[in-house]
Formats: sequence, structure tokens, C-alpha cells
Amino acid sequence: MAVPFLKWAGGKRQLLPQIRRCVPARFGAYAEPFLGSGAVFFDLVRQGRLPGVPVRLSDTNADLIGTYEALRDDVEAVITRLMHLARGHARDAARHYYEVRDVQFNRIRAGAAGGAALSSHTRVDLAAAFIYLNRTCYNGLYRTNALGAFNTPMGRYVRPRICDPDNLRAVGQVLQHPRITLTTTDYREVGTWLPADGFVYFDPPYAPLSRTAHFRAYTAAGFSDDEQRRLRDLALGLAARQVHVLLSNSVSPLARALYESADVRRSGLRACRVPARRAISTRVTGRVGVKELLVTTVPRRHPLT
Ligand SMILES: C[S@@+](CC[C@H](N)C(=O)[O-])C[C@H]1O[C@@H](n2cnc3c(N)ncnc32)[C@H](O)[C@@H]1O
Repeated sequence: MAVPFLKWAGGKRQLLPQIRRCVPARFGAYAEPFLGSGAVFFDLVRQGRLPGVPVRLSDTNADLIGTYEALRDDVEAVITRLMHLARGHARDAARHYYEVRDVQFNRIRAGAAGGAALSSHTRVDLAAAFIYLNRTCYNGLYRTNALGAFNTPMGRYVRPRICDPDNLRAVGQVLQHPRITLTTTDYREVGTWLPADGFVYFDPPYAPLSRTAHFRAYTAAGFSDDEQRRLRDLALGLAARQVHVLLSNSVSPLARALYESADVRRSGLRACRVPARRAISTRVTGRVGVKELLVTTVPRRHPLT
């Protein structure tokens, strides 16, 4: 069974038990427009909740979506290349990491930025480098500099698991289903795609808990307060069209103001604070448990807290 193959900031593995309770009993289409490592998508597949249903998976991170596409189109070539990278890492981790990051990955990406179509060989190389860097960089963090070059330093792992061929094959097979579409697009695009009985899971970069918290390092552009408001308005519009909506965010002042108001409740969207098993580290208190906000139109079968 396929499981997420990337470590991803804000990955939702920890919240799955709460999220499962908010999946509608029946729905006619599924969209996940902030895909990241796809923890919820792979969970729905595992639970057998997506057969016969058109699925749209998207994210603005073109390297990420390109990697899913390469796994769908030529998983064996990606595995061969990734095994090669894993052997290089085992020989001399630091020299190899920075060579792949700066000389291979960033140089190919810079060449591709002109918009020319990539050969299948180049797409495979990029996907393998992306998975290798994700498995070996600091905390799996995808960070780019002002010029768009990936610049996360190497992480400190003794023997990182770089290639899991069986899981990559399972992922490639899942993605080959003709009802699944992958696109590099902004989340707003799902608004026109979703039918009235569709189900959408929005997992945006979280609104910061405080103005100093660096919770928004997902893309070069970040996800502004205005963007959080636009997303809330889209969720309200979809709820009014009878689309099943599920959204997660931080229990931050902004997210509370956006989702805990009486107006929002009247529209059928309910916000609920749920315990996340994740712990975040803070300089003051060390590691602390946190709550997260789940906002949904789906009547829950069991209480969430
Ligand atoms: C919190 S992460 C999603 C994590 C995911 N649920 C998982 O389990 O790994 C947010 C994602 O939103 C993407 N993103 C940021 N801005 C976006 C936008 N405007 N439209 C679509 N995706 C966006 C980021 O690239 C990132 O992958």
C-alpha cells in the first residue's frame, strides 16, 4: 500500500485520525489543492474511499508535482537513478549532497525555467534529485533563495532511508489511475473544477501563531494574510454550492478570526480545535503539544476532541 514518500513541512500524518472523521460518507469528486506529501490523499486511497471518483491533486511547487508525474510515468527509471544517488551519499555524504543540490538539481532547474519542455530523461533526473534532497536535507524543508535556487543545508542523519523501491512502485501505480489528474496550479483553480457533491481538503501553509513565528517558509512568495482571507472566502463559496469542505489551519489569531465567527457557522462551516499529536519546539518551553483547527461542512460522526 502506498504511503507518502516525502517528509513535508506541515505533513498531516499526525492528524489523520481526526481528519478521517470529517470525510463525507459519499462524494462524487475529490480535490487536494495543497498536496505536499499527500498524507490525506494516500490515506483515502488506503481506506478505499476513492474508487470511481475523479481526483485532482495540485500544488504550486512545480518540483513537487514534477516528481509525482515522473513516478507515475517512469517509476523504474526514478528508482534506478535514486539508488545511484543513495550510493553516492553513502560514500561521502556532504560532498555528494552539495554537488547534487548545486550542480545537478539547481542547474537543471535553472535551465528549465525558460519554459522549454523537459525530456523524459531530465524529468527523471529532477525527480530522483528532489527525493534524494528531501530525504537528506535539514528536516525535509523545501526552501529557496531569492533567485529560486533550492538552498536547504544537509540534515544530520546517520543512515537516511533514501530509496524505498516498493513504496515508490506502489505510489507510481496509484497515480497511473486515469481518474487522477496532477497539476501545478494555485489552489483557487479547484473552485471551478469541483461539482456540487465534490469533497475538497484544503491544507494551506498555516497562519503564523505569532508575528515572529516563521511558519510560512513553504514557497518563495509565502502565503499572506490576504491569501488566508481569499481561501476562507473560497471555502464559504464552495460550502454554499453544497461542496463538502474540510480545511486545516493553526489555532492562530488570524485563523480564529476567519473561521470561528457566527457568520461562518451560519454558512454551515464548523471550526473545531483538535489535539495534534505533533510537538513543536520553542526556545522558551522546549517541546509542547499543540492544537490545530479543523473547519468542515461535514457532520461528524464522533466528537472531534
Ligand atoms: C501545509 S503544506 C501541505 C501539506 C500536506 N497536506 C501534507 O500532508 O504533506 C502546504 C502546501 O501548499 C503549497 N502551496 C503554497 N501556496 C500555494 C498556493 N497558492 N496554491 C496551491 N498550493 C500552495 C506548498 O507548496 C505546500 O506544499
